Amino acid sequence: MRISFCCTDTKAQPWLDGLRAAFSGAEVEVWSAGALPADYAVVWAPPQQFMDEQTQLKGIFNIGAGVDALLTLRLPPGVPVVRLDDAGMSVQMAEYVCHAVIRHFRELDGYEADAAQGKWSYRKPRLRQDFPVGVMGLGVLGERVSRALAQFDFPVMGWSRTAKSIPGVQCFSGDAGFNDFLAATRILVCLLPLTPDTDNIMRQGTLARLQPGGYVINVARGSHLVDEDLIALIDSGHLAGATLDVFRTEPLPAAHPFWTHPKITVTPHTSARTLREESIAQIARKITALQRGEPVAGVVDPARGY
Ligand code: NAP
Ligand code: GLV
Repeated sequence: MRISFCCTDTKAQPWLDGLRAAFSGAEVEVWSAGALPADYAVVWAPPQQFMDEQTQLKGIFNIGAGVDALLTLRLPPGVPVVRLDDAGMSVQMAEYVCHAVIRHFRELDGYEADAAQGKWSYRKPRLRQDFPVGVMGLGVLGERVSRALAQFDFPVMGWSRTAKSIPGVQCFSGDAGFNDFLAATRILVCLLPLTPDTDNIMRQGTLARLQPGGYVINVARGSHLVDEDLIALIDSGHLAGATLDVFRTEPLPAAHPFWTHPKITVTPHTSARTLREESIAQIARKITALQRGEPVAGVVDPARGY
């Protein structure tokens, strides 16, 4: 078996070592132009040339959950594209989002600023019933995040394309449920895949429907959010602020207003990182399953976009 590794911005050697350990006897190499045809590809944002040359693949494994970059390429027809299916990401996402929600709800930034000035001052306790959290996207990550938030007794809403039932979470679905979901939400969390339907979904017309004092947490993709609409709604006082982990251009350009806005917290696309060992183990299990003709989880539907 030959496995070709083609991952932009990724240190290759530990992946090669891990994949070779998982498949003794397999040839596992970093792709270069003109390389021999491989059976399986392990990729992150590969060039079009990779797809054009590697015409005999039996499976393409994306080393992230989101496949938006991959689906911009012309892919070999009929070859399964498999994304990471949790692989240790959902617990990271749950801790990141719960931290951001609680930091906002408990006004911890304010306490930190007070402490920096040696001030011992209390704020009036806020009621969690006044801070309903709405999670857009109830897939592998969104469901785990929703359940984790519900454990802190926040009212939790969720929105997905197809109807769901999750204990402790009021579920909405489809276009028909979107406005009611927004109207019931004060803290909005985005965990949607980036597709033509979800591009720019957080814009003036939608964010203005959040409850007054709304707060935005974007941990999905930068293109879900219209940056200037967010800033205008924060500056007008309708929204209280935002925590943003993903951006239209990454790294976030030095001159971007998000860096210095006092009500926006920026992190460098780190809310749920790919964990190499767990990912290699998952990919190895799935290659073995595909070899045996068995079904695997996380197969992308290119027509749906995720
Ligand atoms: P997933 O399991 O595919 O879940 C996607 C969810 O979004 C599903 O519930 C799906 O609805 C819903 N959805 C898709 N299109 C929709 C639409 N048009 N309207 C309403 N709901 C829609 O994906 P995941 O593994 O949870 O990952 C979600 C995204 O997180 C990834 O695509 C990636 O971009 C991002 N991510 C970010 C980081 C980071 O570090 N910041 C890390 C990992 C992933 P159905 O359930 O009805 O299909
Ligand atoms: C990270 O953003 C991923 O899609 O895994």
